[in-house]
Amino acid sequence: MNQVVISGTGLFTPPHAISNEELVASFNRYVQQYNAEHATAIAAGECEPLAESSVEFIVKASGIQSRFVLDKDGLLDPDRMTPLLLERSNDELSVQAEMAVHAAREALENAGRSAADIDMVIVACSNMQRAYPAVSIEVQHALGIHGYAFDMNVACSSATFGIQTAANAIASGQARVVLMVNPEICTAHLNFRDRDSHFIFGDACTAVVLERADLAVSAHRFEVLGCKLVTLFSNNIRNNAGFLNRCDERGVGAPDKLFVQQGRKVFKEVCPMVGEHIVDHLAELELAPGEVRRFWLHQANLSMNELIARRVLGREASRDEAPVILDRYANTSSAGSVIAFHLFSRDMTEGQVGVLSSFGAGYSVGSVVLKKY
Ligand code: COA
Repeated sequence: MNQVVISGTGLFTPPHAISNEELVASFNRYVQQYNAEHATAIAAGECEPLAESSVEFIVKASGIQSRFVLDKDGLLDPDRMTPLLLERSNDELSVQAEMAVHAAREALENAGRSAADIDMVIVACSNMQRAYPAVSIEVQHALGIHGYAFDMNVACSSATFGIQTAANAIASGQARVVLMVNPEICTAHLNFRDRDSHFIFGDACTAVVLERADLAVSAHRFEVLGCKLVTLFSNNIRNNAGFLNRCDERGVGAPDKLFVQQGRKVFKEVCPMVGEHIVDHLAELELAPGEVRRFWLHQANLSMNELIARRVLGREASRDEAPVILDRYANTSSAGSVIAFHLFSRDMTEGQVGVLSSFGAGYSVGSVVLKKY
C-alpha cells in the first residue's frame, strides 16, 4: 500500500458578507410585513403571528457573527429571501464548477502540482446543482485534467468521506494525485423565512490535493495516518428536494424541500457520537487525545465544538487547539473543517498530529488523523 499525504489545500471565499444585524433586519422586515398582511386573521385567532429574530440569540445559540454568500441582495430582500443566481447557458461554466476551479487552482499551487499531474477528481458536497453531467467532470474539463471524475454527497461529512475515498485510491495504486473539492452553496438550500435556522449557513468552497507520499514535492504536507467513517440513519436533519418532487404537485415549494432540522436533538445526539468516534479512532492508531496538537472540527455550532473537544480531551480546548472559523463563515457544510485546516495548519511542526473531523446529516461522522511531515 502506498503512503498518502495531503500536499495542498485551497479556499474560495465568496465576495459578499452578511452580518447578523443585516440578516436579522431583513428577517424582521419580512415578519412585520407578514403580520401586517395577516392582521385580521391573527386578531381572529385563525393564524399565529410570526416572531422576530434576534442578533443576541444567534450569537448565544451558535457563535455565528457573519457569513459569506454568493449573492447578498436577493436573500436580504424580504420579498424574495433567496439568493439570486441566474441560470447560465450550457456553454458557460456552472456556478459550482466555477467555485471549485478557484479553490482547486490554489490547492494545486500549494501542492506544487499542475492539472497534468492529477488523475482523479472528486466533487464532494451537500448539494449538486444538477443531476448530470457530474459537476466533477465539468471541473476536470475546465482544468484540463485527464483520468476520471465523480461526485459524492454525504452532506456535512462529504469532505472526510471524499478524503478517505481519495486516500484509498492512492494507497491501492488506482490514482497517484487526487483533487477533492467541496463547493458548498448552502444559502440556496436554506429557508431564510425560518427563524430557527435562517442564520445557520454560509457559502464557500475548499479543495484538497492528496498524493503518494514518495511523489510529493510540497514542503507543507501532512501524512494521512488513518480515516474512520460512520453513518447512522436519522431524520433530524433532512432536505426532501429531489427529482421525484415534480411527481406530486402538492409538495412542490413546501418547506421540507429545503434544509430542516431538529436542532436540539441534533446537538444532543451528535456530540457524544463524535466525541467517542474521535477517541476510538485515536486509540486505534495508538494515540492519546493529549498527543493531538490541533482539532479541525466541523464548523456548525460553537457550543457543539466546545463540548466535543471537552469530551475528547477531558478539559476545555483552547482556540489554538480547536480553531473557530464559524464566527466569520457560519456553517459551510463539508467545507468547514477543511477551511479550519487550510487557515490553521501552517504553524505546525514535523511530527505534530491533528484531527480533521466532520459530522452532520445522515447522521454521518468522519475523522482523518494527520501528521505533519
Ligand atoms: N431569534 C430569537 N429567538 C429564537 C430564534 C431566533 N432566530 N430561533 C429560535 N428562538 C427561540 C426559540 O423559539 C426558543 O424559544 P422558547 O424557549 O420560548 O421555546 C428558544 O429560542 C430556544 O430555541 P432552540 O431551537 O431550542 O435553540 P437552541 O439553543 O437549541 O439553538 C440551534 C438552536 C439550531 C443553534 C442549535 O440547536 C444547534 O446548533 N443545533 C445543532 C445544529 C447543527 O449543528 N446542525 C448540523 C447542521 S449540518
